[in-house]
Amino acid sequence: MKSILIIDDDALIRKTLSSHLSKGFEVILAEDGEAGLQSYEEGMPDLVILDIRLPDMSGLEVLCKIREKNKNANIIIMTAYDDMKTTIEAIKLGAFEYLVKPLDMVELDLTINKAFQMQSLEDKISYLVEEQQKEYTIDNIIGRSPQMREVFKLIGSVANTRTNIFIQGESGTGKELVAKAIHFNSPFNSEPFIVINCSAISDTLLESELFGHVKGAFTDAVCETKGKFEIAEKGTLFLDEVGDVSPNLQSKLLRVIETRDFMKVGGEKVLKTEARIIAATNQDLKSLIEKGTFREDLYYRLKVVEITLPALHERKEDIPDLVAYLLEKINRQLRKNVKKVPPEVMKLLKNLSWKGNVRELENALTRAVILAKGDVVHVENLPMDTGERKIFTKELVPLRKVEETYIQHVLNAMKGNKTKASQILSITRPTLDKKIKEYKLSV
Ligand SMILES: Nc1ncnc2c1ncn2[C@@H]1O[C@H](COP(=O)(O)OP(=O)(O)OP(=O)(O)O)[C@@H](O)[C@H]1O
Ligand SMILES: [Mg+2]
Repeated sequence: MKSILIIDDDALIRKTLSSHLSKGFEVILAEDGEAGLQSYEEGMPDLVILDIRLPDMSGLEVLCKIREKNKNANIIIMTAYDDMKTTIEAIKLGAFEYLVKPLDMVELDLTINKAFQMQSLEDKISYLVEEQQKEYTIDNIIGRSPQMREVFKLIGSVANTRTNIFIQGESGTGKELVAKAIHFNSPFNSEPFIVINCSAISDTLLESELFGHVKGAFTDAVCETKGKFEIAEKGTLFLDEVGDVSPNLQSKLLRVIETRDFMKVGGEKVLKTEARIIAATNQDLKSLIEKGTFREDLYYRLKVVEITLPALHERKEDIPDLVAYLLEKINRQLRKNVKKVPPEVMKLLKNLSWKGNVRELENALTRAVILAKGDVVHVENLPMDTGERKIFTKELVPLRKVEETYIQHVLNAMKGNKTKASQILSITRPTLDKKIKEYKLSV
């Protein structure tokens, strides 16, 4: 049963409230501030109904002291009409609601209900925020390679700042993971982390997603909306695939970054943003600048700090740790227990090219866990083409044999097109012809 502490010097009010509320709650009574504070500490009630005028101290003082003990304390204050100034002050200090005397019992019940509902929502939210923070601790970014150590150093040095950050890395290297780690390790970690993928939507839609729009700004604008810059408040706005933003929107982005001002689409009011911007891309922005499709000044504004994430094949030494971490995560999600990785499988995992980086590794392991019969990751369950598997899982073979198998694999993949195959292999056509003859390859 939930408990309610009533602090009021008026005996009649205490009696009335107590007999009304004791049907559904455990009621604790106190006749002045001192007794109220003591009862609060002893009983830690779920809700306090507090009179703003008490004989020994002001209600505001009691309110502050209760909130010092528990910053989430749920407090409703009772006041008279001529006390509005104090009432406003009490709300500012964190009271949930005020009720005017003489009390209306229906209004009282409604307010108590609302307060409990709000509290349970707040509990849920703080639980979710905590869970999210746990998930994005730096411990969950795996890597001991020199390149990853550099990344950790940068995350540590920028987390407490508000500077804009630019994250560059191939697809699946962990750009979003790093952006979240920065956000959730910053002093603003209870503020929103908002993601917007700039490549997935059209230019007009992206503009209204970023800045919001007013009613009637365009045909479908039936009501006013908030943009991500506004929703992010003091949190982080993660601009994913920023290389795909159109020139028109690039100049608008530049303005908001420089001045912190923006306007809704179709709007006239200037709004301010305090959000930190983390931008990411898997494209080479410098070559986009050379081509003239990305503004150089915007690039420099975005990359106050630049973090470059290495491709997985550049940090093969991290693969065993990543495999262990990802298997743990996948097993937890799928309620399985496939954790054994035989040495030949680990060797294969270390030698594959992983063009899709950590995401591809995670997908490959997920598949292997789903298909596993016992508790072992089997080579057969790894989704790689047989060419690569043949090279790396058989007995150790001479280099010639590897070359033969690999050239055949590329020829097959290119459906016998020798020009394309020689380009991929970076050898001339005559050299390829020679190898085909030498190894008796089929085209
Ligand atoms: N260093 C790492 N340690 C643990 N998990 C990682 C690491 N890097 C990436 N991952 C995992 O790999 C997956 C892909 O990461 P993420 O989405 O951050 O990549 P991305 O660079 O944003 O990819 P894309 O460009 O395709 O959007 C996620 O499940 C993420 O948790
Ligand atoms: Mg991403």
